[in-house]
Amino acid sequence: MCGIFGYCNFLCEKSRREVCDTLLNGLSRLEYRGYDSAGFAVDGDIEDTLIIKQVGKVAALRKLTDDQPLDFSKPFISHCGMAHTRWATHGQPSQINSHPQRSDDKNEFVVVHNGIITNYKEIKLLLEKKGYVFESDTDTECVAKLTKYVFESHNKELNFTELVKTVVKELEGSYAFIFKSTHFPNEIVATRRGSPLLIGVKTQKKLKVDFVDVESSDNSFATVEGQDMSRPALNRSQSRAFLSEDGLPQPIEYFLASDASAIVEHTKRVLYLEDDDIAHIADGELHIHRVRRSKEDNTAPTRSIQTLEIELAEIMKGSFDHFMQKEIYEQPESVVNTMRGRVNFENHEVTLGGLRGFTHIIRRARRIIFVACGTSYHSCLATRSIFEELNQIGTQAELASDFLDREPPIFRDDVCVFVSQSGETADTILAMRYCLERGALCVGVTNTVGSSISRETHCGVHINAGPEIGVASTKAYTSQYIALVMMAIQLAQDSKSSQKRREEIIDGLYRLPSDIKEVLAIDAKLQQLAVEQLAQEKSLLILGRGYQNATCLEGALKIKEISYIHSEGIFAGELKHGPLALIDETMAVILVMTQDKYYPKVQSALQQVSARSGNPIVICNTGDENLKNHHRTIEVPKTSDCLQGLVNIIPLQLLSYHLAILKGVDVDFPRNLAKSVTVE
Ligand code: AGP
Repeated sequence: MCGIFGYCNFLCEKSRREVCDTLLNGLSRLEYRGYDSAGFAVDGDIEDTLIIKQVGKVAALRKLTDDQPLDFSKPFISHCGMAHTRWATHGQPSQINSHPQRSDDKNEFVVVHNGIITNYKEIKLLLEKKGYVFESDTDTECVAKLTKYVFESHNKELNFTELVKTVVKELEGSYAFIFKSTHFPNEIVATRRGSPLLIGVKTQKKLKVDFVDVESSDNSFATVEGQDMSRPALNRSQSRAFLSEDGLPQPIEYFLASDASAIVEHTKRVLYLEDDDIAHIADGELHIHRVRRSKEDNTAPTRSIQTLEIELAEIMKGSFDHFMQKEIYEQPESVVNTMRGRVNFENHEVTLGGLRGFTHIIRRARRIIFVACGTSYHSCLATRSIFEELNQIGTQAELASDFLDREPPIFRDDVCVFVSQSGETADTILAMRYCLERGALCVGVTNTVGSSISRETHCGVHINAGPEIGVASTKAYTSQYIALVMMAIQLAQDSKSSQKRREEIIDGLYRLPSDIKEVLAIDAKLQQLAVEQLAQEKSLLILGRGYQNATCLEGALKIKEISYIHSEGIFAGELKHGPLALIDETMAVILVMTQDKYYPKVQSALQQVSARSGNPIVICNTGDENLKNHHRTIEVPKTSDCLQGLVNIIPLQLLSYHLAILKGVDVDFPRNLAKSVTVE
């Protein structure tokens, strides 16, 4: 996944320094999306385009920029710039593989890209046969050179929108692009398919209307080879949004970004592009066109300009050292936000508006199939049994990648639930489309408004956890967990037999924020445990059973992904089928042994481990004297069995954080990982 950012100022003068700083700051907000290299493109001094790019983080790019022999005071009354922060998919992290990528050594066409072009090799071959010489290993460079090729094949007669439309029709795969060209000064074209892209609008005066028309044009497309064709008549319906009272052009700024965190400090007025939208910004106006891929195109005729709900503070670290730490500590609030307006604690009722009109269909499902990746998959595992218990519907949890490999039978009476914090995980999106094609009812559970999964599913639930910046997912896990529990309760609300059970769970949800706070209060003890007893370990096993299976897998994932210590979640019931061989006095073990119906079986696992000189740290309920007197314990408050995993995961999140700090890991940017895996 990468972060792309664009900034256009029209009739509001900005110095080159201000333009560069706006682009660099935009990248800083997107750095969690990818951070092995970064770059940007701005106007030069002689109607040329300057590209400044650097391997490493945005800070390295900022330093490189400051070292440029440029007149940073040069004013621009109007200007269009673009920027990119990269998580490598094609080609090693390097200066030459960084974006923007260009068409030639005069930077006639430059492009930044988030996504993956799957037919880039064929395009590259075609262009090499036409004499193009490539300098990078990226798929994106093919797009920049193809743009130049198409432009020249049409005697340079295509306008910027037609040109990009022709180019992207040749591409397969996923993309969000921003194009800039010396042939179209002070213009920018942006388009997306499968990767997110939104546009912030900042004006001095209120906009005339809060939407932008999608403009139609007769679709005799230009083709790559440049056949003769009548120029398509663009029915450019004046963008009513930007009409001024006196008809004169107005000062305006546009901010294009992969997600809202890079826009919110400038404006809260944003427009989400849909797949195959082409946004053209010129002369202070934003025009939206469509890449039509088939006769019917049932997208809306306008794109609304919405108001962002997130605050800048939410995307800042505040008093914390890392986003991950902030997000762990946010959980007493984020779980409340997830339940806000949805759980009535007095009459013990759940109302998920996003499922309205679909609840009765889901109740009649033959199967409920959860599909997700990583931490999101663990939230499905954590709630699978409460779904089955309350609704008596066979419920399975699938890893999206494995699901796609198997291509299992999916039927119209299946309900498939896609859980994804980013809503942009490629494997989960592909699994969603697989199920949509087969007629299943598809439900999206995401944390990102406007994300592909939230837009393409039939219905869904927004977990309202607030932006999660840290690569290691924490508050999204607990909010996904709760959202799924709420869904299970809502589906069972017409059943008398589970009334008592539902009330007990809802009472547990009510106490959850204070339960979490109680665990956060022992953070210093957990830090000491990490320093004194775990930091030197080479491997760490986490055992649990029943509802705590998910806790073990999620805890192990946290530890491995940010402290790089090998860690494995093991279902305690499986211990004697092999993993017990790993146990001796040297193997670090954490055993999750909170009170529930599986406690006696977990006790047996504790005995098996102790009999082999294992010395586990036991996560138990406060006051479990039996355990406290014989073992190292981490005590947590007791709650409803199906919610206990929400409390038990907190010490494991904190332990993983402290271990990562002790290892000197840059917690928010763990090596080799990115916040959202938008490629398969
Ligand atoms: C979890 O800490 C990881 N960042 C990763 O496993 C993540 O949960 C997974 O990539 C799924 O992401 P999603 O929820 O955005 O789909």
